[in-house]
Amino acid sequence: MVVPESQEKIYHPPPDLQRDAHVPDFSSYLEMYKKSLENPEAFWKEVADEFFWKKPATGPMLQYNFDVTKGNIFVKCMEGAKTNMCYNVLDRHVKEGNLGEKVAYYWEGNSPEHHKTITYGQVLSHTCRCANVLKQLGVKKGDRVSIYLPMIPELVYTMLACARIGAVHSVVFAGFSSESLCERIMDAQSSVLVTADGVYRGDKLINLKQISDETSWDSDRDVWWDEAMSDSSEECEPEWLDAEDPLFILYTSGSTGKPKGVVHTVAGYLLYTFLTFKCVFDHQPHDVYWCTADIGWITGHSYITYGPLANGASSVLFEGIPVHPHVGRFWEIIEKYRVTKFYTAPTAIRLLMKYGQEPLQKYDLSSLRILGSVGEPINPEAWQWYYEEVGQGRCPVVDTFWQTETGGHVLTPLPAATPLKPGSATFPFFGVEPTILNEHGEEVEGEAEGYLVFRKPWPGIMRTVYENHERFENIYFKKFPGFYVTGDGGRRDKDGYFWITGRIDDMLNVSGHLLSTAEVEAALTLHPDVSEAAVVSRPHKVKGECLYCFVTLKDRREFDKKMVEELKKMVREKIGPIATPDFIQNAPALPKTRSGKIMRRILRQVARNERDLGDLSTLSDPKVVEVLFSQRSEAA
Ligand code: WT7
Repeated sequence: MVVPESQEKIYHPPPDLQRDAHVPDFSSYLEMYKKSLENPEAFWKEVADEFFWKKPATGPMLQYNFDVTKGNIFVKCMEGAKTNMCYNVLDRHVKEGNLGEKVAYYWEGNSPEHHKTITYGQVLSHTCRCANVLKQLGVKKGDRVSIYLPMIPELVYTMLACARIGAVHSVVFAGFSSESLCERIMDAQSSVLVTADGVYRGDKLINLKQISDETSWDSDRDVWWDEAMSDSSEECEPEWLDAEDPLFILYTSGSTGKPKGVVHTVAGYLLYTFLTFKCVFDHQPHDVYWCTADIGWITGHSYITYGPLANGASSVLFEGIPVHPHVGRFWEIIEKYRVTKFYTAPTAIRLLMKYGQEPLQKYDLSSLRILGSVGEPINPEAWQWYYEEVGQGRCPVVDTFWQTETGGHVLTPLPAATPLKPGSATFPFFGVEPTILNEHGEEVEGEAEGYLVFRKPWPGIMRTVYENHERFENIYFKKFPGFYVTGDGGRRDKDGYFWITGRIDDMLNVSGHLLSTAEVEAALTLHPDVSEAAVVSRPHKVKGECLYCFVTLKDRREFDKKMVEELKKMVREKIGPIATPDFIQNAPALPKTRSGKIMRRILRQVARNERDLGDLSTLSDPKVVEVLFSQRSEAA
């Protein structure tokens, strides 16, 4: 890792940011990084000292096996220690840190007229009440609680209430369908579901309770939040948990189609979200931080709920969407709360770019200091616009690469330390050791392109797939023994900068959310008139990638507009609106190898209208491809 001297345009950290930064320059970064790898024990011990431990650890800061040939895969952080996440992110600030009156969240509703300010003291009392309600409902340590709520403060209270009593929360994004919700409740075997009657997203009403439950209200079973909370006490002793007890499950798409319940544990996740938030956003006491993600995704778990609260930060919690009631809403909110650190996704940037400079110019964005990006590679055009127009050339853009599985940022610039190359997630965070492997699993020195893998764990990495440790080992550790395999392709350039080149499995990234082609195919083939379906990605101006579906119909059915509508509806109902296909094409037959495997490479090229097909020798019937190209224009 070196400060590059090349011809490429490099963006250096602004000196005024460097003055008080936690990691003030590149040599400090290198020094700390070196320490984190050479002496992880001392490095993470220092971080752990920030927090309250009911009992100290008996084991080392990190223990692990990453090599399937040597036994089961495991990671443990601070074995033997006892603590409580909720205590550390709330009580510690209120009781020890005098932050009871400090704002934890500026809640901003879907409508600009709805907003409120919530202090740390208030979050603590609501959380304790909610914890007592859950206990009254019979929830005990280790039980799972599913949460299907929009971006309202009650979502944060419920997560923290679970953490307080040792229940394991499983938040399901409020845009998912009833079937997806059902699948996640069943897999987690949750005993309680916390939901809301409904929410407006822009002009659209989403009836969450109706989705949760086709029958409306069941007085033998359901309890109203407000009634239960008002009868409940504000005192609730935290449950002291083992460092390696589970904190939450969060489902993410799996390439077989069945979502994976990613499990994160208490101590490691606390240390890692705390430190990444502190360093990557260079957290300072007077900051107003805003992450626009939904808490239903890992970005919200780590960087709206736990990371910011662990740091005692003040955050904006936004219920709405970027274009309601007008396309300047984001900029209006930045001005309203004087936001200093702003974290969003390339898809949102590309959407807002379309409306030009005018909506931006109406608002005062001079409070901004650092900008962040997450979810997919940021294209140079979007990067430039973000940096020049939103950040007015003054704010570093931290392009944070990570996954639901990694718990927190793993490749990322540090704003006052790292010279930026637009489009690169730059260098590893502390304790993280990335490398690039070729097809044979060999490490390639220097400039390299291949599989992005990690050699050792950091405290925040996932511990298992819920109730399926074998699947965990197979997905992430089988391919290259000794390494955690991300599923992403990566490139390391001559200066040591990392660039993400895209997924190398059958996953695609729509608006920063991973979907598996298999889950969409499974939804399509549920239609009684479909005999076979294959789904590939196609580039999309705003979403990054979109779904292009090929369907083979049974003889009895014509491919027409009505059919396309039925199929889109099917996918929406099965998975949710984010998975709605952009294109569906009739495929009288699919291109297959002689052994019957669908050749997705060819389908991707049909979807993109790339006619230079290269080697087709394994294709069993070349005529199929001509037919697909000739029928392309009829895709709807
Ligand atoms: C996948 C993980 C991590 C929070 C949101 C998504 C892609 C994520 C970047 C980035 C390039 C990125 C990768 C990764 N990805 N951030 N900065 N640059 N690609 O979480 O749903 O678990 O998806 O998102 O492909 O593997 P996720």
